[in-house]
Amino acid sequence: MGVAVVTGAAGGIGSATVRRLHEDGMTVIALDLNGEAAAELSPHSYALDVSNAEQVELVMASILASWPRVDVLVNNAGITGSAAATTVHETPVEEFDRVMAVNVRGPFLCTRALIPSMLEAGRGHIITIASIAGLVAFPGRCAYTTSKGAALQFARSVAIDYGGRGIRSNAVCPGMVETPMTQWRLDQPELRAQIEAQIPMGRVAQPDEIADAVSVLASGRLAYANGSPLIIDGGWSSR
Ligand SMILES: NC(=O)c1ccc[n+]([C@@H]2O[C@H](COP(=O)([O-])OP(=O)(O)OC[C@H]3O[C@@H](n4cnc5c(N)ncnc54)[C@H](O)[C@@H]3O)[C@@H](O)[C@H]2O)c1
Repeated sequence: MGVAVVTGAAGGIGSATVRRLHEDGMTVIALDLNGEAAAELSPHSYALDVSNAEQVELVMASILASWPRVDVLVNNAGITGSAAATTVHETPVEEFDRVMAVNVRGPFLCTRALIPSMLEAGRGHIITIASIAGLVAFPGRCAYTTSKGAALQFARSVAIDYGGRGIRSNAVCPGMVETPMTQWRLDQPELRAQIEAQIPMGRVAQPDEIADAVSVLASGRLAYANGSPLIIDGGWSSR
């Protein structure tokens, strides 16, 4: 039970998470750049670019006017940058900036806007969807890898800043998940086989399997977890 705000709600992992938290009995507020798609998922939705400070302030203020106590924020919105693999010197500056803005500035802005109300309530849980790309580097993905390392460190910063005041912060680190973000790769049989060959469980994850992890964290079980990277990758990063 309680109120959850999910960013990037219209995507693969986001929509699975919205559905799962609804099933868990939570009131879910769905936020996405694509407001129309978010509106199809929940009666409570907003169009929002998480990297836009003004928009984040306005939307979060509007949410808090209706639901003064948000229990859970899921920082899920994210982008990878261009499909083509680019090494550091080939990565366009604008692409690096955009990936960092959505994947790092976004969680910072959304969390920053909701923390005061959580402090007032004396409770709250920030769940940030990072990636195993925040734990190990992947070739040709410098902007994404850097951003997910930063997102994970952001989750840890929140954990130590507020752990003594009833607010916990954890990260979920998925491996490869079949979503619109990755579909173009997984639709190429050779590329899919290459990826699956690296995963000890021999398959990629489905979005529901990541939503399960968010659901467990949001439920308040795992009550001593704070600053934890919950790795859900079929063993990929253990190789
Ligand atoms: N799919 C994977 O393999 C995988 C693996 C590890 C981590 N992740 C992370 O999981 C999260 C969700 O990824 P996904 O695979 O569901 O991607 P997706 O592309 O299916 O969904 C992403 C959603 O975020 C929204 N979005 C993009 N920019 C936004 C912005 N500026 N403001 C608000 N919303 C915005 C998009 O409209 C989309 O609905 C991301 O943070 C991603 O980095 C994904």
